[in-house]
Amino acid sequence: MPKISSIKAEETTDSRGNSTLLATCLLASGALGSASVPSGTSTGRHEACELRDPDGKGVQKAIKNVNEEIVKAVMGKEVDQTALDELLIKLDGTKNKSRLGANAILGVSLAFARATAKERNLELYEHLANLYFRDENARKYKIPEPAFNVLNGGKHAKNGLAFQEFLLIPIGFNTIMEKVEVTQKIIVSLKDLLLQNGQSIELGDEGGFAPKLKSNEEALEYLGKAISAAGYDTQKVKLGIDVAASSFWKNEHYAIEGKMLNAGEMISMYEKLCGKHEIISIEDGLNEEDFAGFAQMNKKLGGKINIVGDDLTVTNVELIKKAIENKSINTLLIKPNQIGTLSETLAAIKLARENNIKIFVSHRSGETVDSFIADLSVAVGAEFIKAGAPTRPERMAKYNRLIEIEKEISRSKI
Ligand code: PGA
Ligand code: ZN
Repeated sequence: MPKISSIKAEETTDSRGNSTLLATCLLASGALGSASVPSGTSTGRHEACELRDPDGKGVQKAIKNVNEEIVKAVMGKEVDQTALDELLIKLDGTKNKSRLGANAILGVSLAFARATAKERNLELYEHLANLYFRDENARKYKIPEPAFNVLNGGKHAKNGLAFQEFLLIPIGFNTIMEKVEVTQKIIVSLKDLLLQNGQSIELGDEGGFAPKLKSNEEALEYLGKAISAAGYDTQKVKLGIDVAASSFWKNEHYAIEGKMLNAGEMISMYEKLCGKHEIISIEDGLNEEDFAGFAQMNKKLGGKINIVGDDLTVTNVELIKKAIENKSINTLLIKPNQIGTLSETLAAIKLARENNIKIFVSHRSGETVDSFIADLSVAVGAEFIKAGAPTRPERMAKYNRLIEIEKEISRSKI
C-alpha cells in the first residue's frame, strides 16, 4: 500500500481568473502526483461545499486546511484510495464537506490517485480502471463520445439566452482527433455565420460563442447551418443542450423567453425542438428538485435521447438512488468536485451502471489545464464527455489527453 510522505496545497488560477486549489502528494516511494480542482458557476443546490474565504473569492482557508489539519492526519499513513477518502470524509465530519472544504478534500484525493498510479508505473486511466473494476476482464478502455459546447448562454454568458450550453456531438467519425478537427472546422463556419449576421463573437465561460440571439431555437438553427456550411451532415454531427433549467426557475415556473412555463410545457417544448433539430441529449431540462418532472420527460423522450441529470443528482449516491427509483434519468453527469472524493465519484458511476444509466463525464465552467476527467472517462468506459469548446487551453487539455490515450490504446492492440 502506498505510504504518504507529505501533502501540500497551494493556490493556482482557473480559466475565469479565480483562485483555486492545487494539491500535491508525495509518497514514501518518491512518487509524486498533483491535481487542481475546478469550480462551477451554475452549481447544484446539493453539491458538496467548495470552501471559499469570507470574500467569496480566495481559497486560503481550504489551502490551510490541507497544509495543517489534513497533512497531520494522513502523514506516514499507509492507505489505499478507499481508506484515504474515508479518512478524509471522517476528518471533515460534515455531510457536505463544509468544514474542510470539498475543494481541499478532492485536491488531496486526486493528487493521491496520481501519485499511486506513478508508484505502480501505470497510466492514470489504468490505475483508475483498477480501482473501478475489481475484475480485470471487465476492463475495456473506450474513448467516450465528446460533446463540445460551442454556444454559451445561461450563467456562462451575458447574452440573455436561457439555455446554458449548445453542444455539437460528432458521432459519425472514428477517432477523437477527427471529432475535434471536425468541430474546430464547424466553429470556424459558426464564427463566419455570426459575423455575417452582425452578431458578436464574444466568448462565454466554456469557450463557445455568446451572441445575443433572440431565442434558444435560433441558437440551434445556427448550429445546423454551421454544420452544413462546414460541409458536414447533420446525421453525423448531432446536437445536445444543457438547459440548466434551475437557473431560470422562478416562482414555481420556468421564466423563459418572456413566458412562464410549467414542467409539462417545458417537456412539450423539448419534444418540438427534438422534432426539428438533431438533438440527442438534454441535460437538466427541469428544475433540480423535480424528480417527477424528470421522470415524465424521461418517459416521453428517454427512448430516443439522453435525459441527463446534473444539478438533479450532483454525483451524489443518495440523489442518484432517488433518480433511479423515480426513473428520472437515463444518463448521469459526473463531476468529481460535486461530491469531493474519487471513491465517492466511482461509487456514483457504479450505481448508475448497475441500473443501466449511461455515464457522461464533465468539466466545470471554471477549469484548469488538469486533465484528470479524461482519464476517468476512459477508465470507467463512459459513453460521453464534455469539456467545452475545443479552442481554449483548459478545454483542449482534456481532449488532447483523450487523443494521447487513444493512440496508446491502439498501439497496445497492435
Ligand atoms: P458549471 O456548469 O460548471 O458552471 O456548474 C456546467 C454544467 O452545468 O454542466
Ligand atoms: Zn449542467
